[in-house]
Amino acid sequence: MSHPLPARLLQTLFACAMLLTSAAQAAAASADKLAHVTILATGGTIAGSGATSTTTVGYTAATVGVDRLIQAVPELAKVAQVKGEQVFQIASENMSNEHWLTLAKRVNTLLAQPDVDGIVITHGTDTLEETAYFLDLVVKSKKPVVLVGAMRPGTALSADGPINLYNAVLLAASEEAIGKGVLVALNDQIHAARDVTKTNTSTLDSFKTPELGMLGYIQGNKPYFYHVSARKHTVDTEFDISKLDALPQVDIVYGYANMGPAALNAVVASGAKGVIHAGVGDGSLAGKVVPSLKAARQQGVLIVRASRVGQGIVARNGEANDDELDFVAADTLNPQKARILLMLALTRSTDSKEIQRMFYRY
Ligand code: DGL
Repeated sequence: MSHPLPARLLQTLFACAMLLTSAAQAAAASADKLAHVTILATGGTIAGSGATSTTTVGYTAATVGVDRLIQAVPELAKVAQVKGEQVFQIASENMSNEHWLTLAKRVNTLLAQPDVDGIVITHGTDTLEETAYFLDLVVKSKKPVVLVGAMRPGTALSADGPINLYNAVLLAASEEAIGKGVLVALNDQIHAARDVTKTNTSTLDSFKTPELGMLGYIQGNKPYFYHVSARKHTVDTEFDISKLDALPQVDIVYGYANMGPAALNAVVASGAKGVIHAGVGDGSLAGKVVPSLKAARQQGVLIVRASRVGQGIVARNGEANDDELDFVAADTLNPQKARILLMLALTRSTDSKEIQRMFYRY
C-alpha cells in the first residue's frame, strides 16, 4: 500500500523543481545572449591523432571530425552558441585554389545570415597563413573570421588544440574582433592574416608576426588588441570571388646561389599567368635568370619580385629596374602571400602598374 508523501517533503520537492526550472531558464536565457559562432573544420593537426601520448611528430593529421573537436571542449558553450561543419578533412599541404574558393563562398554565405555572428576555421598549420590571407582579401563581411590550428595532435600530452580552439571561438564571439580583418589565433596570441607566418616546423610558438607585430593577446577569457592592420581587407577590397570557379595559375620560383632559368622556364611552359620570383636579399635577380624573366614578361606573364628573406620591403626599382622590366615589387608580402594577391589581382587586371597599386594597398 503506498503512503502519501508528507506535505513538507512535497513542498521541498516542488521548490527544488521550481529552482531547477528557473536555473535552466536563466541558463537558457544567458546562453541565448551568447554569440552564434560556426566552426568550419578543414583538417590538420588540430584534428590529428598519434599512436601514443608522446607522439608529437609522425602522427596523422585530419582524422578527427568537427563534432568530436567540439565535444572535447565543453567550455565552448560558455562563450558562444557553437555549430560545426566539416568542410574538408585534409592535411593542409593539400589545400588547393579550389578548396579556397569553396571555403570562401561558404564563409560569405554564412556571414550573410543574421543568425551567424562569427566564424572559426580549424586548419592545418602548414598553409594556415595562406588560407587566412586569401580569406582576408575575399571575405565580404566585418564579422569576425578566425583561423586556428594546433602544433600537437589532440592525443598528445599538453595538446594545444583544445585551448587554441576555445580561444579562437571566444575571439570570434567578441565585439573587439569585429572589423579587424581575418585573424589567426594560436598560442594565446592574435595575428593579422596579412603578416603572420609559421616560423618553426614544430614548436608551440611557431606562429609569429616578426617585426610588424601581432595584434594582441587572448588572456583570462578575453581578447586584448593593441594594434590594427594598416592595409585594406575584407569589405574594403576590390576582389569578388562569388562568380569564380578557378583562379589564374601563379607559381613561385625560389632564388639561390647559382640559380638558373630551368624552374622558371618550366612554370611558364606549364601555363603560369604570373610568377613570384622569391629572390635572394632585396628580391635580387641572378643574371642567368633575367633573359628568361624578360621573355616571360614579353609573353604576358606578370612577374613579381619577392624575397626569400622573410622580413622587410622589396623596394620597387631597388635591386632591379622594375619600371624598365615592367615587373612588380612585392612590398613586404612573403612569396606565398604574394602569390595569393597576384592570383586575385589577375582576376581584375593584367596591367602591371594597376597590380603594383594593389601590392601597396593590401
Ligand atoms: N600536415 C600538416 C598540416 O595539416 C600538419 C601540421 C599542423 O596542422 O600543425 O598543415
